[in-house]
Amino acid sequence: MRELSRRKVLVTGGALGALGALGVASTANANSVWNWSPTGSVAGAGKGADPRWVWDPEADPLVASLLDRGDVPRVNELLRTWTKNAQPLPAGLPADLRDFMERARALPPWTDQGKLATAVEFNEKRGLYLGVLYGLASGMMSTVIPHEARAVYYSQGGADMKDRISKTAKLGYDVGSNNAYQPDGEMIVTCVKTRLVHAAVRHLLPQSPHWPGSADEEIPISQADMMVTWHSLPTTVMRKLTAWKVPIPAAESEAFLHSWQLAGHMLGIKDEYIPASWEEANSQAKQVLDPTLAPTPEGIKLADILLNLGREIDGGLLSKPVLGAFTRFMLGDRIADWLHIGREPVWDPLLNVAWGPFIAVREGLLPFPLAPKAYWTFDEFLRRAALLFLSEAKPISIEIPETNRPS
Ligand code: HEM
Repeated sequence: MRELSRRKVLVTGGALGALGALGVASTANANSVWNWSPTGSVAGAGKGADPRWVWDPEADPLVASLLDRGDVPRVNELLRTWTKNAQPLPAGLPADLRDFMERARALPPWTDQGKLATAVEFNEKRGLYLGVLYGLASGMMSTVIPHEARAVYYSQGGADMKDRISKTAKLGYDVGSNNAYQPDGEMIVTCVKTRLVHAAVRHLLPQSPHWPGSADEEIPISQADMMVTWHSLPTTVMRKLTAWKVPIPAAESEAFLHSWQLAGHMLGIKDEYIPASWEEANSQAKQVLDPTLAPTPEGIKLADILLNLGREIDGGLLSKPVLGAFTRFMLGDRIADWLHIGREPVWDPLLNVAWGPFIAVREGLLPFPLAPKAYWTFDEFLRRAALLFLSEAKPISIEIPETNRPS
């Protein structure tokens, strides 16, 4: 029954929340029933279908067919040259893929260019915090989101985490770039390619003999999973900035949210699940993110790999303790202990004592006329350096996987 129903839901592209509606929804990372109202979404209305049983009915059958037809290597090669938002799609793509991508690359009618301009101001001033938070709060949090940790571990990219992280970091870089959604920016391209990657994972992962799946997850990356991960990004970042008492003007806070609402839409999340305001985002996060966090063997291994990424530079001597201490500082003792991150006698107390004053000084200097630009120059240097290190100075190309992790 379970197998039949879920496959059918996906294959027919039906996104009816049928299982939830029939009461088949089992244990789940959410024991609770989905009751977040679509009236709080950017769509303002919707069917209210339980997103645990909704995937991507447009992209999933298409990418499954590309994989089955053996078209993926050619498509990946062609798409390597497609990098800018306004760039025409390369010639030679299969017609069904081209049609889909033309639709998928269009920004929604609710795009607000004024808010996007304000988001640039926000990013210029807070680039440093955003970089640290995406990497160490959101990135490390992903290892305690069980569905995500398992999907990442058992998919192709799980075998080469540095490469995998460089691609995810590219999305974090692109969304914070001054021209993110503008014709010469890259965020639309990154999102559309990622949407294709996720669709491939939904087809491939259930075929892996290693992927455990679970009662609520024979097909990975549901719309609910997407929203959980979404909250590990902007919602978590905003929660931390608020906790650190970073004074953010309301317009900038809304603009930052808008840049992520658009990211969600472009990644294939349905508008009826994307929160319209921070209030709605926080209420949804309480329902879907907070109760979901838990350790898994796969997540613990991934976290260890992430903490060791700096090993090539310093043998792990400094980078590992610092990254571990930052993780504990950002995510708290419970999560750090789940991930077997040791206590750091020097760095833990130092962060507790020094981070607040560091922020206060940085914020205190912001009103000086040249400060925002100077911060941006410095932060942009760090953002680029981090990406360069992660990508080993090679161009970062998000590609549709053809296989799962080999073992
Ligand atoms: C791939 C971002 C949600 C699992 C990617 C990539 C990006 C990305 C940029 C491309 C990197 C690559 O090709 O390796 C995001 C964002 C999300 C999201 C911004 C939500 C807002 C999720 C969720 C899951 C997931 C919810 C699982 C439950 C994966 C997997 C890959 C992937 C398994 C492919 C790795 C590979 O085999 O190469 N994601 N993702 N993602 N994502 Fe996501």
